[in-house]
Amino acid sequence: MNKKPDTQQNELSDPDFAIRRQQARIEVNKLDSDTIHDEPERDRFFNMVYDRAKDDAAQIPWADLAPKIQITNWLTANPGGNRRALDIACGLGDNAEAISNAGYKTTAFDLSSTAILWAKRRFGDSQVDYQTSNLFELPQQWLNSFDLVNECYTLQALPPVLLHQSMSAIATLVKPGGRLLVYTRLRPADQVADGPPWPLTQQDALAFKEFGYELVDDERFDTARGDRVIPHQFAQWRKLD
Ligand SMILES: C[S@@+](CC[C@H](N)C(=O)[O-])C[C@H]1O[C@@H](n2cnc3c(N)ncnc32)[C@H](O)[C@@H]1O
Repeated sequence: MNKKPDTQQNELSDPDFAIRRQQARIEVNKLDSDTIHDEPERDRFFNMVYDRAKDDAAQIPWADLAPKIQITNWLTANPGGNRRALDIACGLGDNAEAISNAGYKTTAFDLSSTAILWAKRRFGDSQVDYQTSNLFELPQQWLNSFDLVNECYTLQALPPVLLHQSMSAIATLVKPGGRLLVYTRLRPADQVADGPPWPLTQQDALAFKEFGYELVDDERFDTARGDRVIPHQFAQWRKLD
């Protein structure tokens, strides 16, 4: 196991962390609503969020500084045995580290080079191969080549106009017979997404069927952020042979 980096312990022991992150969320959402949402890559926006944080993780609205419990539970039941895994849009790297610690040979990428450098600094002795890369311009050698692909909060972070393209890109990465994990917020079908983020409808979230996947498990749960209760889905998919 990699030891927890000191920065993580300091940030988590900061009693103001959640309050400062809530303030940052409001500011970042304002910045994002000024961004042109049909810009295909939005790299300026995401780099700006990581750059302006200046190494303070409380300025990153989605940073929990810990892997998601549903993902770690799944990994405990499904250790890697040196098989290959990819973490999509890894941000500050917590889920990627959990995957690596579960025995997967792990690659993790993000569009933001600042996020990638930050993740590398946080986990100095990491076995994860961190790379700056764009979901919409993936290296050819990644296609159909991972036993496990983990997607957490990326689909909802991109404007709905990019949802089909994002799902299609993610779907290409898993080997036939391999697993895809998708962790996302959900919204009712009759509710208009007023992002960012843009939670998925149940119908959106189940659309991996259209890309040659079968649903293996579908866990629904709520999370609390301040006084908000947020419906979530953690889905496990298998790519058909
Ligand atoms: C809401 S954050 C989630 C980060 C991380 N998965 C987590 O759960 O903490 C969305 C991430 O997607 C990245 N991103 C956005 N567009 C991307 C793209 N086209 N290719 C790769 N990463 C992208 C952003 O830089 C950001 O780190």
